[in-house]
Amino acid sequence: MSHHDERTFVMVKPDGVQRGLVGDIVSRFEARGLKLVGAKFMQVDDDLAHDHYGEHEGKPFFEGLVEFITSGPVFAMVWEGADAVRQVRSMVGETDPADSPPGTIRGDYGLDLGHNVIHASAPMEDEDDVPPNEREIGLFFDEEELVDWGLDSAAWIYEEESH
Ligand code: RTP
Ligand code: MG
Repeated sequence: MSHHDERTFVMVKPDGVQRGLVGDIVSRFEARGLKLVGAKFMQVDDDLAHDHYGEHEGKPFFEGLVEFITSGPVFAMVWEGADAVRQVRSMVGETDPADSPPGTIRGDYGLDLGHNVIHASAPMEDEDDVPPNEREIGLFFDEEELVDWGLDSAAWIYEEESH
């Protein structure tokens, strides 16, 4: 079971909330077989935005990015499953929706780099002290907000859990 418990942080951005895409986006991760372990409809404040996007501080788009992510409510989630970080990033698409193929979330719902609908944790890179998924889950959720539960359909999603 342990290799099915990778967690990733996902957030429908203010444009996705305003456009009514929360339900569809949740459905995609559910249908993929991932397990929802935390969810919160919330407003990101300036401090949280700076912490979350700290890696981009100083870049020309940083202030606009902070303004955008704080411009309306977001839907923050934690999803769990095998290879969750990489699989969710591939479902999200490229950073620029214009480069994202149909079938991905950004490729189906976005046209503009600055309004790309969704955030998902990136894989760990050499310069990271802490894996981005762990860092972001910790920024947005307290431990007691994450729910420990068994997904009964796991036996139909993962072959080795079926016997
Ligand atoms: P995110 O963190 O939001 O999931 O997006 P990402 O990993 O695909 O892309 P990242 O490089 O982390 O960039 C964060 C957000 O900043 C905006 N951006 N603008 N104008 C630009 O060149 C530029 N580059 C990035 C995007 O909205 C991106 O989602
Ligand atoms: Mg990023």
